[in-house]
Parts: sequence; structure tokens; C-alpha cells
Amino acid sequence: MIEPPAIGVVGVGNRGRQLIEAILETQTGTVVSYADPHAPSLAAASVLVPEAASYTDWRAMLKALRLDVLVIAAPPHLHREIAQEALAAGLDVYCEKPMAPNLEDCDRIVEAARKACSLFYVGFQERSRPVFVRAHKLVRAGVLGRVRMLSYRVMRGPFIPKVDNWIADPAKSGGMLADKNCHDFDLFNWFTGSRAVRVQATGGKAVAAQEGGNPGELLDHAFVLVDYEDGAKALVEVCFFSPFFEELEIVGEKGRLVADYTRLSYAFRGSSEPPVVETFPEDDPHGDRTGWLGFLSCRSRANPGIESVTHAETARESIRIALAGEQSIRTGQPVSF
Ligand SMILES: NC(=O)c1ccc[n+]([C@@H]2O[C@H](COP(=O)([O-])OP(=O)(O)OC[C@H]3O[C@@H](n4cnc5c(N)ncnc54)[C@H](O)[C@@H]3O)[C@@H](O)[C@H]2O)c1
Repeated sequence: MIEPPAIGVVGVGNRGRQLIEAILETQTGTVVSYADPHAPSLAAASVLVPEAASYTDWRAMLKALRLDVLVIAAPPHLHREIAQEALAAGLDVYCEKPMAPNLEDCDRIVEAARKACSLFYVGFQERSRPVFVRAHKLVRAGVLGRVRMLSYRVMRGPFIPKVDNWIADPAKSGGMLADKNCHDFDLFNWFTGSRAVRVQATGGKAVAAQEGGNPGELLDHAFVLVDYEDGAKALVEVCFFSPFFEELEIVGEKGRLVADYTRLSYAFRGSSEPPVVETFPEDDPHGDRTGWLGFLSCRSRANPGIESVTHAETARESIRIALAGEQSIRTGQPVSF
């Protein structure tokens, strides 16, 4: 039985605080400290964990305290240097997605993960969401036959405002596809088990900007097509000026599966049987607890550090696709790898 970890959190904006809440709700560790230069974020965190030590400088926090786990929920352009230092100090790292806003930073994190003995894990909580875990089991067991087509439709309102508006600057956020849709590209990579070889996309700004949403260079809608090495094809449809709707669809040679957060159904080609339907409780709408528990379950394995490079390379792959999508939208040309 592994001891509940002493946890430090870097960045206690919206996401950092959601993760603190997940840790408190699951009673799986003690948040002993947090660091953030923004006074209102620190004040809001102190309400959640009043006994924890508060820092304005994450380096000072790392120096001062003995931690087991570092949660990184600062803006993406800071992930690289924080992850490098935490891994070098032997901490297990839960790093929020996107791993980083550019491939150079991703590569340096992969390198740091390779050198470290501790665990590096990117918070792709969709991989731990029960409905997608079940869908993945069915797909990998071959229930649908060879996967040929996937689509993820994500419809929502504009990005929630970020502290100092970091999201508006692609050098900090990586852009809309990296910040939002890295989750979806990661699901495609996971479900196909194959490697993306070509990305083509179209997108733009239609509504959110005029209404004050999706600031700076952030797009507010796009279609992104991804070709995989094994012939599978995937489509992300994303819109930031819509009522909420999310759905994953997977079509294999034998059948079709559709899943949202609480329900999946699948049916077989040529069969007159009604679709098989399975439902899942909606008690963790953002997947905060499942993501955190996924990290802990990895951490509890015999030699968790050994998985770090896989986590880091997998996360890099989602950024590679996202950045290629942004490039294709800018140039009007497909990007082949
Ligand atoms: N997994 C998910 O579903 C999910 C959802 C939302 C956000 N995120 C990710 O979480 C991260 C944070 O996003 P957010 O929505 O909380 O943004 P936010 O702007 O609400 O919070 C970011 C916090 O980081 C702080 N920060 C800035 N510089 C810092 C530094 N040098 N040291 C420590 N803290 C610093 C800011 O002051 C702010 O409080 C991003 O990577 C984002 O993509 C993930």
C-alpha cells in the first residue's frame, strides 16, 4: 500500500483548483503547498486548503519543501521548465495538457522523462473516463472490427477567461487545437493505436471574437482531418459558439459505436438487432477525479517511472497533430509527416 503523497500545485487558477478539489474529494493525498504569482488565484486556493503553504514562486516552493508529487496547472508555455526541474528533483509529475505549446518544449520534456526515475504523466483525463475506457476495451478487443473512421464533435461556448489572457497568445497556449483538441487527437491515437501521417484542416473566427470570446489569434471553429498510417481516418469538428454537445463516433469494418460522457451504444452492420446500450453515471463531468485517479493508479505500479517516456511521447503526438492542424488552416495546405 503506497502512502498518500505530499502534493505541491504550481498554478492555482481554474484548473489547478479543480484538481485540488479532486484530491480533496478522493482523499488520496495532502496538498501541502501551492505556488502562483497571481494574488486572487492564491486567495481562492487558500479557501480550499487553508493549512497548505502558499508561494508566489514555484522554484522557492520546490526548494523549501519535501514533496512527493508536483501538479503542474500553470499556462502551457511554463510546463517545460517546471517539469524539467521537478523530474530532476525526483518528483512524480502530473502535468496538465497541453504538454507544451511547441514541439521543442515537448522534446525537452521527453528527454527529461527519459533521464528521470520518477513518473511523468500528462492529464489526459478522457483516457480514464469510464465510458471511454469501456469503448477502448471493446475497440481493442476487435468488437467493431478494424477501425476505419473516427470522429469527435465538440460544441461549446467560448474559452473561459484565463489569468493574464495567456490563451490568446499561440506562443503560450499553442492555439485552439493544441489547448482544446489535444484531448480528441489523443483519443484518436489511443483508439487507433496507429500514427498520424497527414493532417488537413480548415477553420477560422466566426462569432466568438465579436462577442469577446476566444481572444487574440484563437480560432473559434474548425474541421481537422487526420490520416493514420494504418489507413484509419479521423475528423475533429470543433465549435466555440454553440450549445454544448460532445460525441465520439467510431466505425469499424463490422460495426459502429457512439459515445458521449454518460452513454455508449454500438450496433453491427447487416444486423437487425437493436444497438447495445450501456450507461455510465455523470458524477464527474470534467473527468477531474478520473484523471487524478488514473495518475495515482499509474503511480502505484511497481516501477512507474518506466512509463514516463511513453506518456511524454504520447502527449507530444497529440501536439504534433494539433500544430499541424493550425499550420494547415493558416496555409490551406495539408501537412504530411
Ligand atoms: N484537463 C482539462 O480538462 C483542462 C481544463 C482547463 C485547463 N486545463 C489546462 O490547465 C492549465 C491551466 O489552465 P487554467 O484554465 O487553470 O488557466 P488559468 O489562467 O485559470 O490559471 C493559470 C494559473 O497559473 C498561474 N501562473 C502563471 N504564471 C505562473 C508561474 N510562473 N508560476 C505559477 N503559476 C503561474 C496564473 O496566475 C493562474 O492562476 C493549462 O495548461 C490548461 O490547458 C486543462
